[in-house]
Amino acid sequence: MAQKFQAPKGVAEYTPPDSNEFLAVRTSLAAAAQRAGYSYLELPIFEDTALYVRGVGESTDVVSKEMYTFDDRGGRSLTLRPEGTAGVVRSVVEHNLDRAGLPVKVWYAGPFFRAERPQQGRYRQFNQVGLEALGSDDPALDAEVIAVAAEGFAALGLTGYRILLNSLGDTTSRLEYREVLTGFLQKLDLDEATRLRAQQNPLRVLDDKRPAVQSQLADAPLMVDVLSESARDHHEAVRHYLRELRIEWEDAPRLVRGLDYYTRTTFEFVHDGLGAQSAIGGGGRFDGLMAELGGQELPGIGFGLGVDRTLLACRAEGLEIGDQSRCDVFLIPVGEKAKARLMSTGSDLRARGIRTDFAFDGRSLKGSMRAADRSGAKLVAIVGDSELDAGVVNLKNLVTSDQVSVSTGDVAEKIQEMLNT
Ligand code: HAM
Repeated sequence: MAQKFQAPKGVAEYTPPDSNEFLAVRTSLAAAAQRAGYSYLELPIFEDTALYVRGVGESTDVVSKEMYTFDDRGGRSLTLRPEGTAGVVRSVVEHNLDRAGLPVKVWYAGPFFRAERPQQGRYRQFNQVGLEALGSDDPALDAEVIAVAAEGFAALGLTGYRILLNSLGDTTSRLEYREVLTGFLQKLDLDEATRLRAQQNPLRVLDDKRPAVQSQLADAPLMVDVLSESARDHHEAVRHYLRELRIEWEDAPRLVRGLDYYTRTTFEFVHDGLGAQSAIGGGGRFDGLMAELGGQELPGIGFGLGVDRTLLACRAEGLEIGDQSRCDVFLIPVGEKAKARLMSTGSDLRARGIRTDFAFDGRSLKGSMRAADRSGAKLVAIVGDSELDAGVVNLKNLVTSDQVSVSTGDVAEKIQEMLNT
């Protein structure tokens, strides 16, 4: 026997019927972005490696440990996208999208890649729906971005999550904080690698989950204590708008995100039913990124929502999501002549937007009825020789078991009517 293959380790893969749920989650999150006036952006799956090194930050775990990087046949170093923001900003700069009026508001969806240790909710290929708005400093936009994510989750019926909010300060307060934090970290008892990280990227040490490190961080200085006046005002205004929107959040002064571009507002949506991988989405401002990637100096804000984890969160809450049926109508011909007739009925039905499947392979009526049941169809249409002679189609409602016979010319109309009642 020929060799069977398996999907690579740690990829998120969905087969029916789970794939219906996955699609419903992604559609729901994307619809929230579309309702808020974001335009769709279709981005490449791989980019110049240097884009991520520069944009996301060389010392982040994502760039230093988790990238899928390869040389293409022309010797260029490319990387499977680990996140979406750097690619969006690259695209905005490359195509001058910022010349057509500000803010530029775009959304995207698709697979992302990080070579992490796979576990429940953590995959090497995972899926995000994200959005970014470039060119506005308005704190109301920060609050709206958070609201749009919350609206996406709400449309799924999801309730068991918390919103964590922090400010990482602007460039002035960040520098000051960096200094204060480095001073604090130098006095701790840290291993060599962590000591090095404390020098290169002290904020990342706050994110160290190991108890031996965490226990020493209880008194670490907090960003909120050194915020510049303008960063503090901005943060206050965001909180004000969130109150106006009646969005509940928790101030999380220790929230640091895994990517280096963040400034000022940062947030995370965490779900309590998920165990260790609890973040179902996150985002924030990245005010310096556009200039860092060769564009004009424009502020930016956005989020990335994890589709895979949101699906797990929906399941943890016992939510029924997605239509599990494959079609609305199942067509069963008995005999070769009936087959040709019903195939054209199928075409008419699909033209009306009615999902239609067909019993191929000349199976028995009993076998075809079983297939119809499995498909989730509400109606079956059956045509045999006697129906052909009489110029009718038999329709059976699989939910109520009612049966009617309708003339061939009226069948599409009648089916549409029966599905709408
Ligand atoms: P992030 O927090 O790295 O942010 O990822 C966003 C979301 O993607 C996470 O909250 C999580 O739900 C999901 N996610 C991340 N890694 C994995 C994984 N290995 N397996 C499953 N799900 C995962 C960003 O990517 C930023 N680009 C978000 C952003 C947009 N910030 C500003 N604009």
